[in-house]
Amino acid sequence: MTELIRRAADLPPAAAVVMTMGALHEGHATLIRAAREYAGEGPVTVTVFVNPLQFGPNEDLDRYPRTLDADLEVAAKAGADRVFAPAAEEVYPGGQPQVRITAGPMGQGYEGASRPGHFDGVLTVVAKLLHLTRPRAAFFGQKDAQQLAVIRRMVTDLNFPVEITAVPTVREDDGLALSSRNRYLSGVQRRQALALSRALFAGRDRLAQGPAAVRDAARASLAGAEGVAVDYLDLIDPATFTAAPPGHTGPAVLAVAAKVGTTRLIDNIPLEFP
Ligand code: PAJ
Repeated sequence: MTELIRRAADLPPAAAVVMTMGALHEGHATLIRAAREYAGEGPVTVTVFVNPLQFGPNEDLDRYPRTLDADLEVAAKAGADRVFAPAAEEVYPGGQPQVRITAGPMGQGYEGASRPGHFDGVLTVVAKLLHLTRPRAAFFGQKDAQQLAVIRRMVTDLNFPVEITAVPTVREDDGLALSSRNRYLSGVQRRQALALSRALFAGRDRLAQGPAAVRDAARASLAGAEGVAVDYLDLIDPATFTAAPPGHTGPAVLAVAAKVGTTRLIDNIPLEFP
């Protein structure tokens, strides 16, 4: 039985939490199953909240898919004990908060450059939802690599008493990363969008040749892809979320963002350079 909770006051503490904006797909379900596994007999809370604070003025807040009934079913099947789906007034009584969390420099490049204030909005709601759900551990997808990086940094810098666990990106059989925004794509665009993951895999194939070769191969693969307007494709140090230098060693993220039609898609793969 999965309980639907609307009021923060009705929320008991959780062993593990998965935060989402709803429109749940197999990627979200994978996070919930990982949380279930971690929690054992303990309670798993899934939050469903389309956070207005993280959307820019010209973004898709109003048309973001809202499918709570279906979401409850996905959450139940994946093993959630409760779904916290508050109204905006429950999370932001009195409107937008005056006091917010800022992501700092790590939130300014890449996604942050295209979406000013986005990560401040994400961190502010993640902090609030951590307080409201009170989990021992919170699960986030590698799919949103910069989000994961700034959340980890917030938890370290501000001493949040929670363990952050990353879950690998779930993909369609043909490589397309699952995303709630994929439903905006037409059949043709869906095919064009495969250029993103193809470029990442082409980069990964050059791992042995080092960081510059990886980045160049990925960029070459994406160059001229039809119907794809590239925002960035770069090899990034996840600790700082800045470009990895040519001699970079250790963990890196090969990340891409592009528009296919009017839909902005992001994808990445984590790599390890010896
Ligand atoms: P949303 O886009 O709904 O994603 C919720 C969680 O699911 C995030 O941790 C995201 O990285 C993960 N996720 C999405 N697609 C995935 C995939 N294909 N494979 C694995 N994990 C995937 O991210 C947000 O919501 C919001 O910014 C939020 C953190 C809830 C704050 O509002």
